Amino acid sequence: MAGASCAIRGTFFDFIDDPWKHIGHEQDAARFIHDGLLVVKDGVIVDFGTFADVSLHYPNLPVTRLPNRLILPGFIDGHIHFPQVRVPGAYGNQLLDWLQTWIFPEELKYSDRDYARTSARYFFDALLSGGTTTCLAFTTSSPVSTEEFFDEAARRNVRVIAGLTGIDRFAPDDLLITPDEFYSESQRLIERYHRKGRNLYAITPRFAVGCSGEMMDRCRQLKLEHNDCWINTHISENPSEIRTAHYHFPGCDDYTHVHEKHGLLGPKFTAGHGVWLSNDELRRFSKAGAAIAFCPLSNLFLGSGLFRLGRATDPDNPVRITLGSDMGGGNAFSLVRVLEEAYKVGMCNNTMLDGSVNPRDKDLAEAERNKLSPYRAFYLATLGGAHALYLDDMLGNFDKGKEADFIVVDWNAGQHAMRWRQSLIVEGAGPETIEQAAQLMFGVMTIGDDRNIDETWVAGKRSYKKTVEAPQF
Ligand code: GUN
Ligand code: ZN
Repeated sequence: MAGASCAIRGTFFDFIDDPWKHIGHEQDAARFIHDGLLVVKDGVIVDFGTFADVSLHYPNLPVTRLPNRLILPGFIDGHIHFPQVRVPGAYGNQLLDWLQTWIFPEELKYSDRDYARTSARYFFDALLSGGTTTCLAFTTSSPVSTEEFFDEAARRNVRVIAGLTGIDRFAPDDLLITPDEFYSESQRLIERYHRKGRNLYAITPRFAVGCSGEMMDRCRQLKLEHNDCWINTHISENPSEIRTAHYHFPGCDDYTHVHEKHGLLGPKFTAGHGVWLSNDELRRFSKAGAAIAFCPLSNLFLGSGLFRLGRATDPDNPVRITLGSDMGGGNAFSLVRVLEEAYKVGMCNNTMLDGSVNPRDKDLAEAERNKLSPYRAFYLATLGGAHALYLDDMLGNFDKGKEADFIVVDWNAGQHAMRWRQSLIVEGAGPETIEQAAQLMFGVMTIGDDRNIDETWVAGKRSYKKTVEAPQF
């Protein structure tokens, strides 16, 4: 094809469907091409398939070879806080105290343009070095931080969704924004950034504890006027937070009702956490087409509780799920680390379901769905996240027409004995079968970290290359 601008040859692993729909034969949801070719033009995939087939159509195209690596779509982080990049790993508090003690003082600094700009560089360096190529992010209530976030994303050409954070109570005065100011600044920012380059806008009420009914009404008004925009918030993360939300919205039956009442729950709505959502609330999320960002690092680091992945993936009422690092409530940027903790959260949920210590109804199907197989894990990190965020028409796998964001994984890098562990699965040149590829990636997610991300490509261009070599032994 005339005009194709680059081609990548290597071993590809991506998803074409939801593995939870294929329990017992999850490979059917995945795609593995041992010797494949990905052809990219202007940042978009124009061809993909086996090297033998696809290369015939591009006889003169220079090919970049990436041997001894697995190539996956870029990771999607569906819940992250830009202004918390400097404060992960803060000691000693659960959510509400943690916000007051560590987070709000730091976020106040982001009305300073230089501070926000410098931090944005660190933020995107960290994101890309962990293999994350798309995120749904919170900024602060300062338009300055929101502008600097979008401007840096545009310089990197990264696909992001973000927006000015609405909070008009429960924070220091200088971090509060009135509903009117929030409305007018959101209007201005939507005009300036939404669908400009790869930037997308999310109307962002921080959480019910920090948002008055008037603020929520302004969000509803913005959504009515800009239906194409996303909505980003937090829900049912921590018991004290939930009690406080009930106190502020006494007319609402539960936390989800707050968003229903203000016309927000629906497609393109994503709420972080949802740890304590009832079965009925999960059903309403499913029906509405709304998404939950599962943030296991944060579930554990802030001691919030365990998200019920198996319940949320009930085939009768499946909720759209994306993964979130929740940096800095979560203590790492790396989606590989997020998957590790997600696996552990699922296993702990099954102890609860087992009934031996803390009896709950035993549900074997739910227990099975709690287990994060490598297929389910890397689906969530790629196509599943894209589906949850309503981005799957643009990205998430290697289908033609999608944006060419991908990562190059070295399954042997990381901990000292990684190569020895992985050599139980493959020796020498790499995986020959889809199951070997999946098992290597399971090793990456359970033993590995961002050292396994060798390269990150954004819109067909290499944006990150690891400089420290894996130990050879
Ligand atoms: N709820 C409201 N704000 C935040 C935040 O910054 N982090 C987390 N984890 N939860 C929140
Ligand atoms: Zn959060």
